[in-house]
Amino acid sequence: MSDPLFDLAGRVAVVTGGMGQLGSELAVALAGRGMQVAILDVETEPRETAAALRTGLEEGAIRLHRCDVTDRREVEAALALVEVDWGIPQLLVNAAGIDAPPDAPASEVGPFEDVPLDALERVVDVNVLGVVVPCQVIGGAMAREGRGSIVNVGSVYGLLSPDQGLYDFRRAGGEVFFKPVAYSISKSALVNLTRYLATYWGRSGVRVNMLTPHGIENEQPAPFVEAFAGRSPLGRLMDVSEAVGAVVFLASDASSYVTGANLVVDGGWSAW
Ligand SMILES: NC(=O)c1ccc[n+]([C@@H]2O[C@H](COP(=O)([O-])OP(=O)(O)OC[C@H]3O[C@@H](n4cnc5c(N)ncnc54)[C@H](O)[C@@H]3O)[C@@H](O)[C@H]2O)c1
Repeated sequence: MSDPLFDLAGRVAVVTGGMGQLGSELAVALAGRGMQVAILDVETEPRETAAALRTGLEEGAIRLHRCDVTDRREVEAALALVEVDWGIPQLLVNAAGIDAPPDAPASEVGPFEDVPLDALERVVDVNVLGVVVPCQVIGGAMAREGRGSIVNVGSVYGLLSPDQGLYDFRRAGGEVFFKPVAYSISKSALVNLTRYLATYWGRSGVRVNMLTPHGIENEQPAPFVEAFAGRSPLGRLMDVSEAVGAVVFLASDASSYVTGANLVVDGGWSAW
């Protein structure tokens, strides 16, 4: 028997970054709970491992709109298509984001003093403005409807400094590596964007909250997995499916009095 508190059936969701690891898990999970899900992403090919996403796209419960979330006109065009298909969304999950890739140029992952500003701008552009723009366009439309829920995906690295010791294994072979500052400062900006919008739209029926995950298992190198487990209170990385419950809660009527909050799903990482 479905619990009306958590019932999402018949509602419409937009998931930015829905072709990625976390976004696709959330898109499939929301579609599985009866939502109609529109993905906004620059990527158009599901990953090899994303069989459930492929099925959802084929069956039509999930629709993909190629869209750069930093571009207001592209987001407006995507929303117009969603509106024609299903109407104004009830849920916006901002999961699009970038970090320095594992093969980033040495300068991007080198000492703080030398990080090039253009690398910093690129990350801030996607991780901050790529949340601001969908909030303006889709959140604005929700506010005009007088209802909606927004979930901004942050990171523990936006609350706490990275433990650079986790990356010792990269330095063991003589490589210079620091987890870059751009990701941290971009994610911490979302903490207050979330609070700002929670109060801005408080009387308009749009709730705005943050999901802060940490350490999603994704075939990381064994020395990283070991170092992470040693530092984690739960002693392990997170399975991507462990983010679903938090998003269902924030999307549903179960969280009707929750706004401006940050739901930290980090296995206790930030508890000590
Ligand atoms: N993986 C983790 O351990 C972890 C931990 C904490 C927070 N997060 C956050 O969770 C979110 C999802 O991460 P992930 O691990 O699934 O990453 P991912 O790289 O698998 O997915 C990110 C998605 O965003 C899309 N994207 C990037 N730039 C875009 C743009 N300009 N417009 C539209 N789409 C764009 C990418 O194409 C990709 O599909 C990110 O915000 C990330 O910072 C991840």
